Amino acid sequence: MGQLVVVSNRIAIPEKNSKARAGGLEVAVKASLKHKSGIWFGWSGKITAHSKIATQRVVHDKITYITLDLSKEDHQEYYNGFTNRVLWPILHYRIDLAEFSRRDLSGYLRVNDHFARELHALLGPDDIVWVHDYHLIPLAKALRERGHKNRIGFFLHIPCPPPEILTALPNHERLIPSLCEYDLVGFQTGDDAFNFSRYLTRECGLHSRDFNFVVAGRTVRIDAFPVGIETAAFADLARRSVRLPFVQGVIASLGGRALIIGVDRLDYSKGIAHRLSAFELFLRTQADWQGKVTYLQIATKSRTEIPEYATIEQEIGSAAGRINGAYGEADWTPIRYVNRAYSHSTLAGLYRAARVGLVTPLRDGMNLVAKEYIASQNPNDPGVLILSRFAGAAHECKAALLVNPYDPDSVAAAIGQALSMPLAERRDRHESLFGVLSHNDIQHWADRFLTALEQAPTALSQFEQMQMPSVGS
Ligand code: ADP
Ligand code: F6P
Repeated sequence: MGQLVVVSNRIAIPEKNSKARAGGLEVAVKASLKHKSGIWFGWSGKITAHSKIATQRVVHDKITYITLDLSKEDHQEYYNGFTNRVLWPILHYRIDLAEFSRRDLSGYLRVNDHFARELHALLGPDDIVWVHDYHLIPLAKALRERGHKNRIGFFLHIPCPPPEILTALPNHERLIPSLCEYDLVGFQTGDDAFNFSRYLTRECGLHSRDFNFVVAGRTVRIDAFPVGIETAAFADLARRSVRLPFVQGVIASLGGRALIIGVDRLDYSKGIAHRLSAFELFLRTQADWQGKVTYLQIATKSRTEIPEYATIEQEIGSAAGRINGAYGEADWTPIRYVNRAYSHSTLAGLYRAARVGLVTPLRDGMNLVAKEYIASQNPNDPGVLILSRFAGAAHECKAALLVNPYDPDSVAAAIGQALSMPLAERRDRHESLFGVLSHNDIQHWADRFLTALEQAPTALSQFEQMQMPSVGS
């Protein structure tokens, strides 16, 4: 039996005094590996001046962390360029923000090739490889070209748009079909899986039986695996963390006002600017609440070298200032806006203290913050989750107040409804949400994916009868 080899761009290297970092993939993969052994391979987070790639190795618990640095050029073209200025916006339905260059595409393919070269040296024939996210779409192809017949699975943490949008990706025909080199391709929701299957049918002429596509004699399975959180552990953490001096200090500073919380990476997909406008509308149209509610928006800076991120940072900062100027009083600031990262225990305590969780992305693969907010609530006196219908989490969290983030009236109305919701209704909704998240927690997610991957027909037997198709070549 081989070992599990997990591959992702960002990895959670165990370091003393490591600071909290925002990002769903890292949080999810770290939690899912807690009871497993194997290798976690990825970028060290360091950028080196020279282009020579050195790998580092750290063993912690039963996981060996193997990381490589990126050169300045790789980081610019692969990370700041193709992954985050082309793939990220297009997969989040924002074709208008995509900035394509051929140079960035070659950087992206080059880094994927570096990853494959390093992995080639350490993969055994029976190892199971689990690749994560859009940074590494062509990795299986690069490994297959080196002769690897291992079971290789891919999970996309972010949305997969319909083919009408996916085909706006320059060179999509070179990249997207290369996902067929994986044995299993997992998505957050059934809609994402369906969108990808429509792409394969429309653009590659492939047909499936129950989401199993036969590509030149081998089978590629597609399915939805909604990512979860450590539900029970998070609930436990929140129960304890609400007593932390820092959290108690925040609660005291509210002076009895109800707390609304938003926690996001500072990313345009999170809809923070729309959310601030909706909150402003709420203050204007439900003026009785003025002075009685505080909205804490925690927005950690993210991908700061990318121009679109610098722009929203400015826009959101000035919108928060403007609303505070217009509605605030000498003794009341409606919006507290902070760019800090907090530990999970502090976040859990703050979630528990908040009467309302405001999670309104314009588009999100899953959104773990929504799930963390639910898990953190006191079941006897729970807060209310307001959730965008365009977050993957909305597929499971049907008992939240689901809203359209593009419609400020609906979000403002939901804020009022959440703040005045009777206890019995809050309990009912919370019980139903917590039940869903307890069933599909992070271990369940990882086990379901890995079982499906283990059961996938081996590429070994399939390779004997096939010539890889022209897709992705
Ligand atoms: P994304 O992966 O797009 O950032 P998710 O909501 O799925 O969005 O995951 C974000 C993860 O990062 C969550 O686990 C959340 O707790 C964490 N996080 C978000 N903001 C912060 C912050 N300010 N400090 C620390 N962790 C954060
Ligand atoms: O969860 C989606 C995701 O894009 C991850 O792939 C990524 O690690 C995270 O958000 C944060 O982004 P970054 O790694 O660019 O800081």
